[in-house]
Parts: sequence; structure tokens; C-alpha cells
Amino acid sequence: MVFSKVFKLFTTKALAVPTRGTGKCNNKDSKTNENVVPLNEIHRFIRECFEKLGVKKENALIMADGLVAADHRGIFSHGLSRLEPYLNDITNKRCDPNACPKIMMESASTAAVNGNNGLGAVIGVFCMDLAMKKASETGIAIVVANGSNHFGINMFYTERAAEKGFIGMAFTNTSPVMVPAGAKDVCLGTNPISISAPAEGKDRMVMDLATTAVSFGKIETYRRNKQQIPLGWGLDETGKETTDPELVVKSRKLMPLGGNVSYKGTGFALMVECLSGLLADAAYGPNVRQWGQKTDKPANLGHGFIAIDPEKFPAGFQKRLSDLLNYIRKMQPVDPNQPVLVPGDLERKIMEKINKQGGIVYTPTHMSMVEKVSKELGVRTVKFK
Ligand SMILES: NC(=O)c1ccc[n+]([C@@H]2O[C@H](COP(=O)([O-])OP(=O)(O)OC[C@H]3O[C@@H](n4cnc5c(N)ncnc54)[C@H](O)[C@@H]3O)[C@@H](O)[C@H]2O)c1
Repeated sequence: MVFSKVFKLFTTKALAVPTRGTGKCNNKDSKTNENVVPLNEIHRFIRECFEKLGVKKENALIMADGLVAADHRGIFSHGLSRLEPYLNDITNKRCDPNACPKIMMESASTAAVNGNNGLGAVIGVFCMDLAMKKASETGIAIVVANGSNHFGINMFYTERAAEKGFIGMAFTNTSPVMVPAGAKDVCLGTNPISISAPAEGKDRMVMDLATTAVSFGKIETYRRNKQQIPLGWGLDETGKETTDPELVVKSRKLMPLGGNVSYKGTGFALMVECLSGLLADAAYGPNVRQWGQKTDKPANLGHGFIAIDPEKFPAGFQKRLSDLLNYIRKMQPVDPNQPVLVPGDLERKIMEKINKQGGIVYTPTHMSMVEKVSKELGVRTVKFK
């Protein structure tokens, strides 16, 4: 059933926007299967949108892989909802979607890549694959990139490494929205950090988080959902903590991880800058442009990717990691209904749920965007399961 038919089934009152904390995907509605979008169908739609704008097949494929990976893991702030901003960057010529990343400098275990203002995910995949190639020889490698654009979720790259048996790490600087501890104005980005490490069998540890209290996308999700945010996430224009997401989206002032009485978030954000923007000679800190706002300035974001081959260290890393993860998972929880999780478990549970229901349940907001883009680009809209 096509979207337009199904859309009528929704009430005018907006349904809850999925939040990743609970992994809710409007499952109430999924019982009917009427608004479940199979993964391959949403992937097809995204891919065709990019191709329609002249993006070459292999790049369109990577973009669809990255956006669907986010929604599949319940990270709705970085999946389909980012399609329009990416397409806008292409139509407004803010990025060159067919640019090829170029290695500018390299040694056996390092490389500095110029992304040539290409698509962030295309550059990210290139760099992570290069880091793995080098690490398989040297045991560890770091590849950094400048001249890049928004690259989506960091775990898209680190899980790619963990799948091949490496410990993968990914960092990126972003538009300045973090007010450093003790300051009144923004200077740093949400600068996310991810590490994925392979454990026994298919088990792994996947940590991926912004170094602000939460990502900007999560504040936007709360705003769309008309929910208050907890204190400690963001500030209003005057620099006062607020629970109103509308005021935070307007001020673009997020608080560091740990709040503004702790220096930890600011320190981690600076660590990310060292391993991405600064090392790569990209734009950094307050010099990074605000995404989506009118500017001729290329984003020139910086990323960093580290691959470590556990085989070059004492045998049994995977077994020791599984042992530790399982120890934590089996710990007595404070709430008997909430088992203790390790990083990556939540996303895995959401993926299992989505696989079981045969696809993703998107909100009317997502789907009206799909409908709009479908009409604008002449791409066939999505079919429900
Ligand atoms: N490219 C960019 O510009 C950019 C900027 C910011 C964030 N992001 C992405 O946004 C995503 C969300 O970031 P965030 O800061 O909102 O993440 P978050 O605060 O939701 O934290 C996610 C991390 O916490 C873990 N986690 C969640 N619940 C847990 C539990 N109960 N027990 C143990 N671990 C648990 C998850 O497995 C994951 O590793 C990330 O994928 C990040 O890469 C991207």
C-alpha cells in the first residue's frame, strides 16, 4: 500500500516521534503491518533520491546504507530525517557528491585524506577501509580527513571495522553548538565518539555518543514530539538552562556531557577535535559553519578513524571482552524489569525488533517528507509491507 493511502489512517494529532531510549517505533500501528516500511524499500527510495540528483551509484549506495543503518538501530535523529538536508546540500552545490577522496600524506600506519568537499559517508567509508588495510599490516592505524561534510552516525564506521575483527574508533567535529563549561557562548561541536570492539561470536561492544549531553538531533526530536527536555541538556539564548526544546533549537546552545559544572564533556570534545579537525587541518571549533544556514563556505569538517588489530596483541581479546560484557549484563539491576545493558545492546535489541516486524515504522512527519521529496524528484514513493 502506498503512503498516500495509508496516511489517511493517521489521526491529525501527531503520533509520538520514535525515541531511541525506548526503541519505540509506533509499534501499536505495526500490528497491522500497514505502515511498516521494509528496510530494502526505504533503502531503495533513499538511493534513488541521490541518483536522481546525479550522484553516482556507488556513492548513493553508501548514503542509503548509512541512513538506513541509523534508523535500523533506532537512531531516528540521523536516518531518514537527514535525507532532505543532504539532498539540499547537493542541490545548493554546498558539496560535490561525486568528488573522490584523495590521500594527501601517508605512512605505514597513518594517512591524511582530502575529502574534496564530497559526501561525508563516502569519505568516512574510504578512510575507515584505509585504516583497516594499514592496521592489518602495522597493528594500528589512524586516518584523518578534512574537506568533508556531515557523515551521519559514527558507529556506521566503527561497526564496519568490528565486523572485520578490528577495534574501530571514529570521531568527527561538527557545527559549534556546545557551550564549553564555564563559558557563555558556543565554541565546540557535539563532537561524537564511537568505539566498536569485537567480542566472541557475533557479540560486540558498540559505544557511540555525542560529547554534548545529547545530540542536537535528539533535541529536535523532542521539539517535534512536543516533549520537555530534562535540565542539563541545553540553554536558552540568555545562557539559562531550560526544559523547552524550542528555545534550545533557537539558541543552538547545548551543554557538555556532565553539564556545565563538569569539565569532562568539554575535555572529550577537545579530544575529538585533536583526533579529527585539528590533526586533519580541517575547520575547527568556532570556525565550522552552521549546517543548513545560508553560507557559501564549504563545511570542511574533520574526521578521524582508528583501526586496531587485536591479533597483534596477546591472544584472547574477544574472549576477555565477552567475559567482561556478560559479567556486566548479568549484574543485579536496580529495576528488575530493566536488565543492565552494555553499549550496543540497546541498538541490537531495536534491530531485532525491526527485523521481526519486517521493517521500520516511520511517523507521519517522516512520511510526509518522503511524499514531498518523491514528488519533487519524481522518485517512486515507498511501499509499505
Ligand atoms: N555526525 C554528527 O555530526 C553527529 C553529531 C552528534 C551525534 N551523532 C550521532 O548521534 C547518535 C546519538 O548520539 P547521542 O549522544 O544522542 O547518543 P545517546 O546519548 O543515545 O547514547 C548512545 C550510546 O549509549 C549506549 N546506551 C544507551 N542506553 C544504554 C544503556 N541502558 N546501557 C548502556 N549503554 C546504553 C548506546 O548503546 C550508545 O552507545 C550517535 O550515533 C552519534 O554518532 C552524530
